[in-house]
Amino acid sequence: MKIVILKDASAVAKYSAAIFIKQIQNKADCVLGFATGSTPVDMYNELINAYKNRQVSFDQVSSFNLDEYLGLSGDHQQSYRFFMNDKLFDHIDIDLAKTTVPPGDSKNPIDACAHFERKIIECGGIDIQLLGLGRNGHIGFNEPSSSLSSRTRIKTLKQQTINDNARFFKDETFQPHLAITMGIGTILEARKIVLLATGKNKAQAIADTIQGPITAQCPASALQLHANTVIVIDELAASKLTNIDFFKHIERENQKLEKSLGL
Ligand code: F6R
Repeated sequence: MKIVILKDASAVAKYSAAIFIKQIQNKADCVLGFATGSTPVDMYNELINAYKNRQVSFDQVSSFNLDEYLGLSGDHQQSYRFFMNDKLFDHIDIDLAKTTVPPGDSKNPIDACAHFERKIIECGGIDIQLLGLGRNGHIGFNEPSSSLSSRTRIKTLKQQTINDNARFFKDETFQPHLAITMGIGTILEARKIVLLATGKNKAQAIADTIQGPITAQCPASALQLHANTVIVIDELAASKLTNIDFFKHIERENQKLEKSLGL
């Protein structure tokens, strides 16, 4: 895993957006995996700015989102489809027909999960999957104890996750306790993975992800098995790592190497 520790959330957004921009510039019809939550919003704003400055076009890009609440249709304000349209898709030239968010209102969600998996394969697989990180180490809605080789399926959310997301449901009578999520095995098949985490409340989950044992108790620790994962974090999220200086040293050396190779 490549660990990139940056000063603050704004630097994390800029660094990670640059990875996505480079990917699209290298392969205009690439397949991107997106995440929701608070963490990627600044990165999405960077992508919107890059589009507006004509640095990048999304017109040939396809995308898959990690997860969706079960029971919410795409026009529900708390649905992840609504979030993606609002925070990114409505502001760039992506073809909405090429964007896939698991259907939270499907009449047969089990079939919908199998269909979602098939669709990823038909598109040729995901080039870069973006991930946020739950305080309990979840990625997508793969809560602790999820199989590390799980596929897209319905998951029951932990109370901590429900509480963490309650801020978005303040005025609602119904907050779903179930979700469709891409599985950990599905995520690990992406050719590249970029995980973002910022703030002190992610520090323990980051330490467990990077330095802990590979365990279903911290689903993100499965990323240790992936050959092309970049973890982009701010100083606060890095604060419980024991070898911060070493990670920073490696990154400086990587940058020197990349520069000398013209990458
Ligand atoms: C959202 C998702 C979740 C979030 C995680 C962190 O699509 O998959 O795993 O990435 O809950 O959420 P924030 O960024 O709000 O702290």
